Amino acid sequence: MSPQIASESYNDKVVRQFAVMTLIWGIVGMLVGLIIAAQLIWPSLNFDIPWLSYGRLRPLHTNAVIFAFGGCALFATSLHVVQRTCHVRLLSDRLAAFVFWGWQLVIVLAAITLPLGLSQGKEYAELEWPIDVLITVVWVAYAVLFFGTIVKRRIKHIYVANWFYGSYIIAVAVLHIVNSLAMPASAIKSYSAYSGAVDAMVQWWYGHNAVGFFLTAGFLGMMYYFVPKQAERPIYSYRLSIVHFWALIAIYMWAGPHHLLYTALPDWAQGLGMVFSLILLAPSWGGMINGMMTLSGAWHKLRTDPILKFLIVSLSFYGMSTFEGPMMSIKTVNSLSHYTDWTIGHVHSGALGWVAMISLGAMYMLYPRLLGLKQMYSVKLIDTHFWVHTIGVVFYITALWIAGVMQGLMWRATNADGTLTYTFVESLSMTYPYYMVRLGGGLLVFVGMLVMAWNVYKTFQMAREVKDSPVLAPVADAAHA
Ligand code: HEM
Ligand code: HEM
Repeated sequence: MSPQIASESYNDKVVRQFAVMTLIWGIVGMLVGLIIAAQLIWPSLNFDIPWLSYGRLRPLHTNAVIFAFGGCALFATSLHVVQRTCHVRLLSDRLAAFVFWGWQLVIVLAAITLPLGLSQGKEYAELEWPIDVLITVVWVAYAVLFFGTIVKRRIKHIYVANWFYGSYIIAVAVLHIVNSLAMPASAIKSYSAYSGAVDAMVQWWYGHNAVGFFLTAGFLGMMYYFVPKQAERPIYSYRLSIVHFWALIAIYMWAGPHHLLYTALPDWAQGLGMVFSLILLAPSWGGMINGMMTLSGAWHKLRTDPILKFLIVSLSFYGMSTFEGPMMSIKTVNSLSHYTDWTIGHVHSGALGWVAMISLGAMYMLYPRLLGLKQMYSVKLIDTHFWVHTIGVVFYITALWIAGVMQGLMWRATNADGTLTYTFVESLSMTYPYYMVRLGGGLLVFVGMLVMAWNVYKTFQMAREVKDSPVLAPVADAAHA
């Protein structure tokens, strides 16, 4: 073990705070997901109360799971990883506290305004302009904190996880600022700077890259640190990780139009989006293979280590959704899948399979480390969580794949005289059994989160005195490279 650097410790406090909020917002966001999944079966569950209506709770769900749950996981891990790989404390404790409290304020404001129906009506960018301004300020502070820590690093080499985190921080800043440009009309109402097809193009350039940089690049940063760490092996190929990085960030930016196939967008833009989406398969799978192969020679660990199971199965879901996405970008396939529940199945194989599982694995690694413990209160309960979650996700996504393809085929079926074979209501009634299966799958995922909460609570109880860990002196740069 490397010697420690006298009197300097890591800022573990902010990592601990974000790690705890990851769990709390995960539970809240998934609970809202369950409620809307139930409302799709029993619409009267809105009790005729406007702020419980589906249209208001749906953006609450997406914002809570992506920006609160996923966001806190990204903040926690990026601030942990940048300190450990740079062998230095965060740039500023005050800035770190500002980023934490600022982000929680954004989440609370979202949780108040979305049920009230205050929305810009842009998917994943619904929040009204004053909150957008707050997001920008907090995000810039986060960027200063992250890159400032890199600048003061004690090791020349910048580990690849930081490249992914860095690209996600820069890209999200650019996407958020450009897509949110608007003219305020009052404190709670604004009008977008864009209109018509340009508005749609900018929105889906943002939307797709929110997937590419928020839901992918950031979590790949997590993968590049936590998979080798938990497997106790170096990453399979450092060279591949560099190719993976540059290919991914160069290609993602162009694929947005696949959300707008068969629309008023110029045909060439749609074709461009489709082609870049197909190319995207290659770097995505490069990353997946790099993560998975890190386990070569250590596959036996999967039998006994549920954290590793979370991490590796998340990579298989990543591989699955990044195969499915390019297929859905092909115009003829999209003409079937668009508007159907297939898209929702795809979203959740990425969201619940990839994003949630890699985050949960990373959190299970972090909690004991941040509390000075060797492991969680119960490894068995982590295993239970793993199985309940995995089975839940499989139910969720397979039900919606079948429902989606069925809907697409029913909507396009015509009789010999050109009339539609099925009414819309017929397709809806055929979908209900699948909605029930999705609700069951979601319920399993949610139960898994409650199991985790209990385990985390008991782990915190085990910790006697919570102290920041000492900064370790770096080993020689050459050895790292
Ligand atoms: C218990 C777990 C969950 C349940 C039951 C659930 C349920 C739902 C439901 C019912 C919808 C609306 C579907 C529709 O309009 O037809 C939805 C949308 C969505 N959910 Fe979840 N969800 C869960 C977890 C998550 C997680 C963890 C994430 C992200 C990390 C996520 C991301 C999304 C996104 C992005 C959408 C919008 C999809 C689109 O517009 O195409 N969900 N979810
Ligand atoms: C190579 C990678 C990927 C490609 C090419 C891709 C492609 C697509 C396509 C074609 C759609 C359907 C658009 C439509 O018909 O409206 C879609 C929707 C979506 N995908 Fe992916 N996908 C990829 C990976 C992922 C991953 C890893 C995630 C999540 C972590 C994800 C999240 C989403 C979301 C949230 C939507 C729904 C957007 C909306 O309409 O609200 N995708 N994707």
